[in-house]
Amino acid sequence: MVAMSSRSLGFGIASRERKSSFGFLKALLIIIPGLLLFQAVYMFNDKEATASGKGTLVKSGSKNIAQPSLPVVTQAPQSDDSDDSNKQSADGGKLQKEQNDDETPKKQENKPTVIEKRLEFVHITKTGGSAVEKVGAGEGIIWGACHYMNLTEVGCDKADIEYIAPNYQSYALTSPWHTPPKLLKKYVETAQYPYTDAELFVVIRNPYDRIISEYYCPWLGFQAKYRKNVKKDKDPNDPVNLNWWVQNMVSTLKNATEEFEMKNKDGIMKLEQSKGVNEDKYILAQKHYVNQAEYVFDGDEVIVQHLVHYEDLGKEFDALMAKFGIDATMPSKEKSGVYTNNEKKLSYKDLDSKSIKMINDFAKPDFEKFGYKMVDDKFQDDYSLKSTFKSEP
Ligand SMILES: *[C@@H]1O[C@H](CO)[C@@H](O)[C@H](O)[C@H]1NC(C)=O
Ligand SMILES: *[C@@H]1O[C@H](CO)[C@@H](O)[C@H](O)[C@H]1NC(C)=O
Repeated sequence: MVAMSSRSLGFGIASRERKSSFGFLKALLIIIPGLLLFQAVYMFNDKEATASGKGTLVKSGSKNIAQPSLPVVTQAPQSDDSDDSNKQSADGGKLQKEQNDDETPKKQENKPTVIEKRLEFVHITKTGGSAVEKVGAGEGIIWGACHYMNLTEVGCDKADIEYIAPNYQSYALTSPWHTPPKLLKKYVETAQYPYTDAELFVVIRNPYDRIISEYYCPWLGFQAKYRKNVKKDKDPNDPVNLNWWVQNMVSTLKNATEEFEMKNKDGIMKLEQSKGVNEDKYILAQKHYVNQAEYVFDGDEVIVQHLVHYEDLGKEFDALMAKFGIDATMPSKEKSGVYTNNEKKLSYKDLDSKSIKMINDFAKPDFEKFGYKMVDDKFQDDYSLKSTFKSEP
């Protein structure tokens, strides 16, 4: 929030400065109050963030950025929970323990503490989730969709939760591996909820990059191959089609989300997905491009303790595994890809001004809570998809 307000304000000042027809004094009259306001907003936000205990200030480059107390991969382990009856479903966890037992105390001194808790994965769409599930499956760990289904491409065949699919489309119950845990917990029986007593992780991704992936997605995208009645007569690599699709998608999803929230406001359970919106009336049930903050936070409460950035997937995933004593690493992108669409040629740089503005509006919580940088209406060459919040100590 601080980054946003100070940046847009700075932008306003800069563009005013350029108007040379203004006299020097006139310009000063505008700039000075502007700077004071900048300072005031900046300080107020810092105070707000720290006083409420919701954030800590983190130095990033030359700027202080108010960072919400984020669950970060590289955080020191919070619990020194040495419960021996831990339910680590991973062979990896057990293996690591045995190895530790065999080692001399000298060597152990350098070993970081292994978190003795089961680690579960919450699969946000288009964040490399199938690759994560595949790595898990390779280690005998059941993650995400693999709890409910045997998936040949992913290599999992130990489904352990009955997938009770409703005969209607539901934000909470359809594809439960994509459902925000706070919602799933409310609506399913304990046996249907995979995350009890576990620590959770998600992969998060820059919202501009993520929507490009949604566009090319074989399930929900522009020319989704797993959907019926999808016309294939248009070129998916034409930016006009991309921007049309993005704008329609974001508008539809925004309407569906607002409708869902309105219906559920009074506490009455409305499981059935809202209907009556254009292109895909069940869009919310599919959970594609639902904001990532929906998964990580429930109000001020942090539901998901560990974040892996898609932008540094290999490195951060491996660090997380090490933390939980799981002997697994993420292969390179070429090797880890599951269901990859190799036809894609467009990137976030092809998003036009209107698309960018709609994404900014819809995915605002993701930009703000995860430190992804918003642009006003077009990308500069030096735009970085990476979060501005630090994730390494
Ligand atoms: C998954 O595969 C296992 C082993 O082949 C089988 O026992 C089980 O019934 C399958 N589960 C589902 C949900 O298909
Ligand atoms: C979403 O709702 C707005 C306002 O009611 C409407 O103008 C817009 O067409 C809707 N979007 C879609 C894709 O139906």
